[in-house]
Amino acid sequence: LCGQAIVFDEIGSTNEYLLTHHQTLENGSVCLAEKQTAGRGRRGRTWYSPESENLYFSILWHYPKDAANLPPLSLVVALIIAESLTKQNVDNIQIKWPNDIYYNGKKMGGILLESQANHKGLDLVIGIGLNLDMTKVDEKIVTQAWADLSQYHFDRNKLVCHLAYELQKNLKIYSLVGFSHYAQRWQKFDIFYNKPVKLITENTEIHGTSLGINELGELILQQDQVIQYFSIGEMSLRGD
Ligand code: ATP
Ligand code: BTN
Repeated sequence: LCGQAIVFDEIGSTNEYLLTHHQTLENGSVCLAEKQTAGRGRRGRTWYSPESENLYFSILWHYPKDAANLPPLSLVVALIIAESLTKQNVDNIQIKWPNDIYYNGKKMGGILLESQANHKGLDLVIGIGLNLDMTKVDEKIVTQAWADLSQYHFDRNKLVCHLAYELQKNLKIYSLVGFSHYAQRWQKFDIFYNKPVKLITENTEIHGTSLGINELGELILQQDQVIQYFSIGEMSLRGD
C-alpha cells in the first residue's frame, strides 16, 4: 500500500477530510471512519453512516494532467469492488451505471468521486461506502431498497486493506491505459443489461433498453431503432 492511513472514530465525512488535507498527504492515503456525521452521496444527498460494521473510507489519488480520460474512473472503482467481493465468495454482486454496487438487486454500496485542482493536475478523492451491517436503518435517509452483507461476517480490517490495495493498483493501471482495459470485465456485472430502463437527467426522462456500455464507459441506450450514448454526468438510471 502507498500513503498513510488515517482512522477516525467519528468524522463529518472521510471525503471532506481528504479534500481539506490533500496538499499535505501522500498519494494513496486512505481515510477511514467508524462513523460519519455528515456522510454524503451524489448531488448533496446524505449517506447513512452510523457506528456499525459498515465501511466508510476514501482514497486520495493524484491524477496527472496528461493521464487517460477521467470520467469512467467511477466505473473502474465499482468494478474492482465488485470483482473483489465476488472473489471473496459473495455471489450476485452487480453494478448500476455509473457508480452503485448492488447485492441481490438492492443497493449495498456507493462511490462518490470529488476533486480539487493542484498545479500538476487533479487531486481526486474516491469515497466508498459499503453496507456490511445495516441492522439499524434510518428510513428517512435510506429511502429505497438497500442491502447489506452481514451474513458474510467479513473481517472489516482485512477487507478494507484488500480493497485499498486493489484500488491503488488499478488506479495506476487506469491512468496509463484508460478504460478500454476494463470495459469487457464491467459488462459481466451490469444490473440492467438488455433491460428496460429510464435515464433521468436534470430536465428529461429518457426511456429505452440498456445495452451496456461502450469502450468509453458511456451508457448505450436503444430507443426504438435509434442508439444513443450517454457519458457519465449528473444523471440517474432506473429500471422501467
Ligand atoms: P443515483 O446515484 O443513480 O441517483 P440512487 O437512487 O442510488 O441513484 P443515491 O443518492 O446515489 O441515489 O443513493 C441514495 C440511495 O441509496 C438511498 O435512497 C438508498 O436507497 C440507498 N442506500 C443504500 N445504502 C445506503 C446508505 N448507507 N445510506 C444512504 N442510502 C443508502
Ligand atoms: C452514493 O451512492 O451516492 C455515493 C455514496 C458514497 C458514500 C461514501 S462513505 C465514505 C465517503 N465519505 C462520504 O461522505 N461519502 C463517501
